[in-house]
Amino acid sequence: MGLDGKVVLVTGSERGIGQAIAAGMAERGADVAVDYLTDVAGAQKTAAEIQKFGRRSTIVQADVSKTADAQRLVSETIAAMGRLDVLINNAGIEKRAPFWDVTEADYRVVIDVNLAGPFFVAQAFVRYLRDQKRPGKIINISSVHEELPFPHFTSYCMSKGGLKMMMRNLAIELAPLGITVNNIAPGAIATPINKALLNNPKLLSALEDNIPLHRLGTPADVANVAGFLASSAADYITGTTIVVDGGLLWNYSEQ
Ligand code: BGC
Repeated sequence: MGLDGKVVLVTGSERGIGQAIAAGMAERGADVAVDYLTDVAGAQKTAAEIQKFGRRSTIVQADVSKTADAQRLVSETIAAMGRLDVLINNAGIEKRAPFWDVTEADYRVVIDVNLAGPFFVAQAFVRYLRDQKRPGKIINISSVHEELPFPHFTSYCMSKGGLKMMMRNLAIELAPLGITVNNIAPGAIATPINKALLNNPKLLSALEDNIPLHRLGTPADVANVAGFLASSAADYITGTTIVVDGGLLWNYSEQ
């Protein structure tokens, strides 16, 4: 499952799942481009982890929700690293509010980061692969909420459901170019995106009771699957979602 000689771009890799994926790719032998929004120190930490594995890294500041940034992210990555083989669309945000209180600004930023971002970063990557006549892999970090309703997070669930259909569509459309497209759907993973929950022992233990494996996932749980999907061991997998959730999504029982 080695990634020797490959170059991987991980959006939103200044923390959380993206940071673990970036390190995991380097551990498997890839050179890695780190994208961040504002946390330059976080991006530098990710780059240091990549270099610990003896791999090259580059850091690019880009807001994936802005199409011009999405395109520049891909072109700067290729300029710095010489090539690009795998795109991990990881950057994502969520905003909690009852439906009737959701502001237009909050709605738009969630859709723009989680859905327009992956769309336009992937488009720039695919144009490059097409021009170079090279195969490639696109892996989107979606969520169990590409399937599962989550009250107070409607825009988030819409964005992840949309990401599922983007993945399915592109898997078919890009197959003739030798490009595979898949999603990873994490459940509850201990990362900064759910720090309010992690800091509330009562909420945390209720959530653990709802997870059949009875623990939150770790960023490494997700990074391991990303490492597999990025490798040639996954060459025949396209158009699917791998759920990494400790059993959360299909949990139902009666006492
Ligand atoms: C969300 C988390 C949530 C988890 C499980 C993730 O997609 O980002 O806030 O805890 O799903 O519901």
